[in-house]
Amino acid sequence: MANTPLAERYRDRLPLTAATPIVTLGEGDTPLLPAPRLSASLGLEVWLKWEGQNPTGSFKDRGMTVAVSKALEEGAQAVICASTGNTAASAAAYAARAGLPALVLQPAGAVAIGKLAQARALGARLLEVRGSFDEALAVARELASRGTHVLVNSLNPYRIEGQKTAALEILEQLGGQPHVVALPYGGGGNTCAYVKGFEEAGRLPRMLAVEASNRDNTAASAIRIADPAHAAEVAAALERSRGRVVTVSDEAILDAWRALAQEEGIFCEPASAAGVAGLAHAELEPGTRVVCVVTGHGLKDPEAAVRLTPPPLAVDPDPDAIAALA
Ligand code: F0G
Repeated sequence: MANTPLAERYRDRLPLTAATPIVTLGEGDTPLLPAPRLSASLGLEVWLKWEGQNPTGSFKDRGMTVAVSKALEEGAQAVICASTGNTAASAAAYAARAGLPALVLQPAGAVAIGKLAQARALGARLLEVRGSFDEALAVARELASRGTHVLVNSLNPYRIEGQKTAALEILEQLGGQPHVVALPYGGGGNTCAYVKGFEEAGRLPRMLAVEASNRDNTAASAIRIADPAHAAEVAAALERSRGRVVTVSDEAILDAWRALAQEEGIFCEPASAAGVAGLAHAELEPGTRVVCVVTGHGLKDPEAAVRLTPPPLAVDPDPDAIAALA
């Protein structure tokens, strides 16, 4: 059957009613890919949950379909979010789909160009806040509390509900439980969502939440968040899962980013490689079955790709000249 909306596939596990108007762009049902070269180099059994395949190119769409559907059901007039870029693109797309205005607050100068282009093209009211993501989030929360806008950051519990479906998909696709799930840790909403999904299925693997060592200035701009909104919840969830926070350098993140692209054919944005980067620091038993969540598409941040790889050589349209360079 053609792509069934995530909200329909998992209707019995989501807080939806017969009256909820489902706002969908065909999210979820993303590939779980084996990673043979990473597996060999790490001595682990590595799988990649490729969330860049979602409609706006990140995992946020899983949460946004539920959050915007519920906002519409509850009579919202507009939605608001603060974002390092992906939540913004997703909110803009689902709001457009729902016929609602979206107000997006982004830290000025800190959002990758692909995400800016998306939010603009999708018609969001985009404001660049002179400040950090955390400051933008504080303002978004304040404005939402005034009742004019529904907050669609992951502090909105419907976002977590939608995002937990990725855990359910992994269990189905793997036909069992992974030993370990590793994923990037920014604000922590997604870590909480996976734990919720696995716990509700009664099958909680060890979770590794991988953060950048310089949180407030990492090259992985999606997770440039100094003060994670879900920190306390993440700590409790990791304890239940016998997991932990793993802290990695930007260099390790970018090495993993390159390996994903050049060894496995997965072009993601830098932050999305954090889960893979964390494996080298996690002291896992050889052969451990690990799922790394690869959270967003590489085209989100084309500048990173251009900055981090050698430029092409210029050549005349001459076969001998080209053969000499190949
Ligand atoms: N990976 C990507 C590509 C992200 O965009 C984010 C968060 C994360 C990982 C971390 O997820 O915050 O739930 O721990 N992006 C948010 C945004 C902050 O505004 O798009 P988290």
